[in-house]
Amino acid sequence: MTVVKSTLPEPARQVVGDALQSTLVDLLGLSLIGKQAHWNLVGPRFRSIHLQLDEVVSAAREFSDTVAERAAALGLPPDGRPETIASAFTLPAPKDGWVRDTEVVEVMVESLETAIGRLRERIEATDKADPVTQDLLISVTAELEKQRWMFDAENWPKDR
Ligand SMILES: [Fe+2]
Repeated sequence: MTVVKSTLPEPARQVVGDALQSTLVDLLGLSLIGKQAHWNLVGPRFRSIHLQLDEVVSAAREFSDTVAERAAALGLPPDGRPETIASAFTLPAPKDGWVRDTEVVEVMVESLETAIGRLRERIEATDKADPVTQDLLISVTAELEKQRWMFDAENWPKDR
């Protein structure tokens, strides 16, 4: 039964559905690991990194809503249930317990880089299928690249 009719034909609907759902999982997961690191961070750079992590969390939460609503608007029911995130989230994440500031910065750079790499693949995949969704994915990528830059800059010099 079709509840919300899609304006996209098959197979574009499938391609766009996969791109939006996997982006939703990455963004919700990023918001969770961002808070995990925000709470468990220790080290001399606590204050700046603690605040920087909340910027990632805010951006990830805001874009997760936009991405999920884009899916719904196309007749694709978004799945943001905790069990879905737990089984589908695969980005690098901090270990449990206290985490040293240098380690947090490294894991956030890795996690954001992985998310950006996947987003760029989805940007390719949605090029013909739905340029409107592609445009949204480009905006998400721009924001995550900005966040990645800020953590990478925190990480210099790398051998300290
Ligand atoms: Fe806080």
